[in-house]
Amino acid sequence: MPEQIVILDFGSQYTQVIARRIRECNVYSQILRYDTPAAEIASLKPSGLILSGGPSSVYNEDAPLPDKEIFKLGVPILGVCYGVQLFAHFLGGKVERGLKREYGKSALSIKDASCALFAGLPETLQVWNSHGDKLTKLPKGFKPVAATENSDFAAIENKERNYFGLQFHPEVVHTPRGREIIANFVHTICKCGKNWNMRSFIDQAVEQIQTQVGSERVILGLSGGVDSSVAAALLHKAIGAQLTCIFVNNGLLRGREAASVREVFGKHFKIKLQYEDASKLFLGRLKGVTDPERKRKIIGKTFIEVFQAATKKAGAVKFLAQGTLYPDVIESVPIAGNPAAMIKSHHNVGGLPKNMKFKLVEPLKCLFKDEVRQLGLELGLPKEIVYRQPFPGPGLAVRILGEVTQKRCDILRAADTIVVEEMKSTDWYYKIWQSFAVLLPVRSVGVMGDERTYEYTIAIRAVESQDGMTADWVKLPYDLLEKLSSRIINEVKGVNRVCLDISSKPPATIEWE
Ligand code: XMP
Repeated sequence: MPEQIVILDFGSQYTQVIARRIRECNVYSQILRYDTPAAEIASLKPSGLILSGGPSSVYNEDAPLPDKEIFKLGVPILGVCYGVQLFAHFLGGKVERGLKREYGKSALSIKDASCALFAGLPETLQVWNSHGDKLTKLPKGFKPVAATENSDFAAIENKERNYFGLQFHPEVVHTPRGREIIANFVHTICKCGKNWNMRSFIDQAVEQIQTQVGSERVILGLSGGVDSSVAAALLHKAIGAQLTCIFVNNGLLRGREAASVREVFGKHFKIKLQYEDASKLFLGRLKGVTDPERKRKIIGKTFIEVFQAATKKAGAVKFLAQGTLYPDVIESVPIAGNPAAMIKSHHNVGGLPKNMKFKLVEPLKCLFKDEVRQLGLELGLPKEIVYRQPFPGPGLAVRILGEVTQKRCDILRAADTIVVEEMKSTDWYYKIWQSFAVLLPVRSVGVMGDERTYEYTIAIRAVESQDGMTADWVKLPYDLLEKLSSRIINEVKGVNRVCLDISSKPPATIEWE
């Protein structure tokens, strides 16, 4: 059991950020539902507990409350925002509904410099608030240690029990020195060392995989994306030739994608790679189909069919490995106003059917995306794969409006290759969320030499985003746009016009479909 901090999630949109911040201190942390029984928490032997914020008020009838036995675990507890109300609720304080929500920046004055939470910090700090209710009477054994203009109890402490409450959010970037507050909690108060890093993770994970799998064989669907690639490299390190990766070419891949997967995994890592070229099957089934939802359904269904047939070819296999990440497995708290609950349902498509008779191996399921990238680098994967932009499962089909044909795929692939090349050579590729070409099957008139042309249009889409849920279009420099436009028009036969998509999400989406 790694040394760890357990976070109980009361539905704050920032819960995952707290876990991230703790891991940045090289301490493992995991998020559990707010009502996880204290005995279960105790079995993890946490060095400390954090009670997250949340949209509720302890006075609501359906307020999420923890198992009260957590206050008998004898470990330090940090309550953030709603977490402070929980101290009041269970340990005898008082909370009142704030007349107005305190939202945004404020200045925190530290009143008791001996409080370990604020060690090494200046007397005044900028902090970020987002709360409606307010503590008006301290719970038993607590004293105030810091105040804001609005609250005398912005930070409170029970020295004897090592309990701390913060009315503000130390985890968000708008509390610039919040990382130090969290570091003080985990290192000084909970006495955690710095044991969580990707090198130690590899050793643990390799051992776990070997124990789980024994001498059985494992298959993995390799998409060329970051998660499945890192999972493949990790599994290969653990079980070598017991791993077979299946790579399906659906005919909707980017330029050189299939070739690069074969080079990296087949030639370099010498992973057993089963390459399934099903491009004709996919394109055949997409013939004449223009409705975006139908296209997606056909691609999803065909993928499952091809993958299932491929697993049969692979022979006797007991395990199926998947590159599931931590944010996919955190159970979101079913509280109205919890945005995490909404985010989960989005695009969770393209999965394999439940009736496939494999046991699952999910070696990345406790990692965040950037930890997976670090792990990939540690395992020797090239930067091209580790920092690859997200690419949708249905591939180029969501970037060709109307019917998907071989010819249109070839045109888009050629244009997209130019976009990727130019974005990479200027390093913009690595600075933003996504950049790609879209084929608009609208023809317009142009001239080339002495001839009139009547050809398609390419739209360039470049967006910045944190998670794909919202996005802003990127103001790429004019000289880069000029290069993209002239290269695409000169080099890609069938295109005579290039446009730039300057819409944000919402109301537009990232992909055009
Ligand atoms: P939209 O177009 O909804 O896309 O703004 C948001 C993010 O999701 C990606 N995307 C997908 N990813 N399978 C995936 O794995 C899909 O079917 C899919 N559709 C969209 C998109 O590229 C963007 O990053």
